[in-house]
Amino acid sequence: METSQIKKIYKEKIKLYLKYNKFYYDKSRSLVDDSEFDNLKKEILLLEKKYTFLKSDNSPSKLVGYIPSKIFKKVKHKVPMLSLSNAFDEEDLKNFEKKICNFLSLKKMIDIEYSAEPKIDGISASLIYRDGKFYQGLSRGDGSEGEDITENLKTIKDIPDEILIKNFPNNIDIRGEVYIKNSDFKSLDIKFANPRNAASGSLRQKDPNNTKKIPLRFIAYSYGYSENISINKQSELLSNLKLWGFQINKFNKTIVGINNLLEFHKKIESMKSKIDFDIDGIVYKVNDFDLQKRLGYASNAPRWAIAHKFSANSSISKILNIEIQVGRTGALTPVAKIKPVRIGGVMVSNATLHNEDEIIRKDIRIGDTVTVERAGDVIPHVLSVDSLKRKKSSQKFNFPKKCPSCGSLTIKDFNETTKKNDAVRRCTSEGYECEKIAIEKIKHFVSKEAFNIDGFGKKIVENFWNLNLVKFPQDIFKLDYKKIKSLDGWGELSVSNLKYSIDQKKTISLEKFIYSLGIRHIGQENAKLIARHLKTSANFFELANDKEMQDILNIDGIGDTQIKSIKSFFSNKDNLKVLSEIKKVLIINDVIQINQRGPLKNKTFMLTGKLIGISRAEAKSLIEQNSGKIISNVNKKLDYLIIGEKPTSKKVNTAKELKINIINQDEWMKMLNKRG
Ligand code: IVH
Repeated sequence: METSQIKKIYKEKIKLYLKYNKFYYDKSRSLVDDSEFDNLKKEILLLEKKYTFLKSDNSPSKLVGYIPSKIFKKVKHKVPMLSLSNAFDEEDLKNFEKKICNFLSLKKMIDIEYSAEPKIDGISASLIYRDGKFYQGLSRGDGSEGEDITENLKTIKDIPDEILIKNFPNNIDIRGEVYIKNSDFKSLDIKFANPRNAASGSLRQKDPNNTKKIPLRFIAYSYGYSENISINKQSELLSNLKLWGFQINKFNKTIVGINNLLEFHKKIESMKSKIDFDIDGIVYKVNDFDLQKRLGYASNAPRWAIAHKFSANSSISKILNIEIQVGRTGALTPVAKIKPVRIGGVMVSNATLHNEDEIIRKDIRIGDTVTVERAGDVIPHVLSVDSLKRKKSSQKFNFPKKCPSCGSLTIKDFNETTKKNDAVRRCTSEGYECEKIAIEKIKHFVSKEAFNIDGFGKKIVENFWNLNLVKFPQDIFKLDYKKIKSLDGWGELSVSNLKYSIDQKKTISLEKFIYSLGIRHIGQENAKLIARHLKTSANFFELANDKEMQDILNIDGIGDTQIKSIKSFFSNKDNLKVLSEIKKVLIINDVIQINQRGPLKNKTFMLTGKLIGISRAEAKSLIEQNSGKIISNVNKKLDYLIIGEKPTSKKVNTAKELKINIINQDEWMKMLNKRG
């Protein structure tokens, strides 16, 4: 063979190798099965050995390995690792503070002190220390369960092995961010799209010796749980973290007042390019731990903290086409296919147009020149249209009135709260009749927050759907593995990995199970409320026979919208079939009530009228923290009706008729062992 031809073959193999590697690290997904990847690697190494003139910086002899994540043990976080809500402007910050004051039932806005911390764009980790020694390190995972990456974390110099300082708690879970400095990133041999991907990729190496080759760093910013800790403020915690030997962000600052937060935000944003690590905003946390405790959490994020993102990057491009995507709940989302442009370091070729109303409002058309904006991890969107650049022949975009997937009628729901039609148009198909909805439902079923089936990504769902392997969720548990093994891109190892991941997920909590069904308006928080109320999967399946949904009508937080949606879910025959099939293969764990030791244990409460000095939201959260349960109707199941100022007389009268205990705020406070 001629030298030029050998070089050509070698180059092609390297190109392919780089593509697979990059795809895996950037998208956390493999394009080929492990054996094919290994073969390619071997072929390149053999060629290099045989023809010593072959060299490439991207050769597997130079790059550290490619390793799937299945190798790490899964460990439950004692305290979940949550995320933060985002703020983009002054208005969002004002709302954030207003909500805090409302929750704390403060008549007048008070001066809240915040710990302002530049938000490093890395990978969060939880470090468990026992008796001063680094015991176990976990990745965030899905927030409730992470991967045991202890050995890899041990290679990071910023993470102390042992802490001998006196006031360091015996049992503590330190949380922070693993990241890579921009200067170190630039000198890396391996090419990743950005420092965050580099950090994520190297943390997932099977061999810690490979992790060691990448200069990872760690910055500490909080703790998940701790025994014997007497710290009252976030700023105090940060100085202790430093004393204990951790790195903390040198730009952290304690600030009072929205104006000062804005000023700090502006200052750090202007310095951004000079800071040697990527930051995508500032996190503001209520500094006082007592206030943090009172404020607690709303669904997945704390009420006491927010991430104020830096302003978006934008670029100009052209709309090539407008496609209509059909979502899991039937929502038709228009997506602009744009001429690819680089925005803030990332190539963008799709931008959301949100909904039909947005297209009408901005008069967005195919062929238009548009400004596309992208802020951090938020989906890029079309900001504005340059109508001067529009051709005369340009025509208004006609939003389809029929579902592009199944041809069903589409509608805009009437919103009872706003008394207006929704901006979103929806396909009227229910259940699995509409192909696109069905595929999205299955994607949701296997997703991280639902069944969390490792290696069962969106592309696999689409593939298996097209091959008739999975048409309903229950099919996932009856896969024809022999057939899969014979498919392109699948091998012995990847099939056995898939089978293992699926088998592992046959046991699930009731709350995750309910969430995974993808019932409209039943997100994680509502699924949790329903699961806690119903306690067993049998009770949940029984809803199919409870036409009035009497049982769940009582749940505080589940309103008409949710009930309507659950009713429509249970009235669909496909859904009933899914339930009856799936319960044959799954073990759905009943709800075990944790912290059942509070003084309000096994008691149900309802509130009516205005309480003094405490908001409705805080009162509810206080009842729950003390093991009580809130219900939303006066009926036989109610133990106590708490009355404040101007209670609803109908509720009080019904309670009297049913001989329910009626108590005032003082009496309730006494039950909590608190002074009113
Ligand atoms: S506090 C419940 N503090 O941002 C509190 N997070 O969007 C959650 N992050 O997963 C975390 N710097 O990876 C917190 N000073 C900081 C942070 C920070 C970066 C990341 C972290 C978290 C994500 C939340």
